Amino acid sequence: MNYIGSKYSLIDFLKETIEVVVGIENNKGKIFADLFAGTGIVGSTFKELGYTVIANDIQHYSYVLNRHLIENTPPINIEKFNYINDLPGVEGFIYNNYCSGSGSGRNYFTDENGKKCDSIRLELEKLRLNGEILDSEYYYLLSSLLNSIDKYANTASVYGAFLKHIKQSAQKTFKLDLLPIIPGDKNCKVYNENINDLINKIEGHILYLDPPYNARQYCSNYHVLETISLYDNPELFGVTGLRESSKQKSEFCSKRTVTNAFEDVIKNANFNYIFLSYNNEGLMPIEVIEKIMSSYGRYSLFTKEYKRFRADKEENRNHKADSTIEYLHCLIKR
Ligand SMILES: C[S@@+](CC[C@H](N)C(=O)[O-])C[C@H]1O[C@@H](n2cnc3c(N)ncnc32)[C@H](O)[C@@H]1O
Repeated sequence: MNYIGSKYSLIDFLKETIEVVVGIENNKGKIFADLFAGTGIVGSTFKELGYTVIANDIQHYSYVLNRHLIENTPPINIEKFNYINDLPGVEGFIYNNYCSGSGSGRNYFTDENGKKCDSIRLELEKLRLNGEILDSEYYYLLSSLLNSIDKYANTASVYGAFLKHIKQSAQKTFKLDLLPIIPGDKNCKVYNENINDLINKIEGHILYLDPPYNARQYCSNYHVLETISLYDNPELFGVTGLRESSKQKSEFCSKRTVTNAFEDVIKNANFNYIFLSYNNEGLMPIEVIEKIMSSYGRYSLFTKEYKRFRADKEENRNHKADSTIEYLHCLIKR
């Protein structure tokens, strides 16, 4: 998934650096926590390496993606649900609120794809209510729906706004593509909490932190995915149909609150190693990060230059730079 701050293109750098610091030994039974998990790419990588992964994110769609990628292990046979891709479209919440044919005034999906999304989403809820689907199967299919539908969204890249005219990739007929099932430890665990609460309840070997860098809240930029994930018929506001999300507003997205929230995590983390991804344009200056981390143990810094993710490429052609430096801060805790 095209996700703000995704570590997809940096995964080799993260894996290699973490392995250099921690050492490659027998990872079995060692806990790796990915507590701002987003798309789940980092946790999935360390699950494959043999770690027992704990993943967490404040957004529900991310919880669902990770619930499948991290907690599910092969085999999961869902042949009996193959019919789901051929269900006829239904005029449900997504069609009624995010497609223009319903008169919603919003143009996030074609009418056909909005109705398809509704029919699959409603079917999954019906199966669950009737006890006809296992949790592992439900999350496998729901995470695959979230991951697939994103490819048909009529947006520049995030859901902060929709495009007036349906772009080419959004015109295609929706098809549910299944996510991979990642082999690994069956004791991996996924949470859907604020990190500042969760950090007091868990412990482990390696803690990986990838907080938001700037003021862009994930709850506003991915609100449509959140609603498909929860499918809770929320009241919607404004031109873009935002849902109420005050409880998901991240303290890491505000200059006023980020430093305290960050120090709280570092202080309360019961982990031997802490790694923090943060780029050179973030709300917290590097010196502040270094000062906070250094006061809890031995600190070091690794860097990598990489191409920026341009969320608003279409509207803003005069973006400052094409590449940015990614920093991986490392703390060996006392
Ligand atoms: C930079 S993204 C993580 C990207 C992820 N590493 C990946 O590669 O896909 C930051 C994530 O932190 C989550 N988040 C923000 N504030 C949070 C908080 N206080 N507690 C837990 N998760 C939070 C956001 O929902 C978002 O998914």
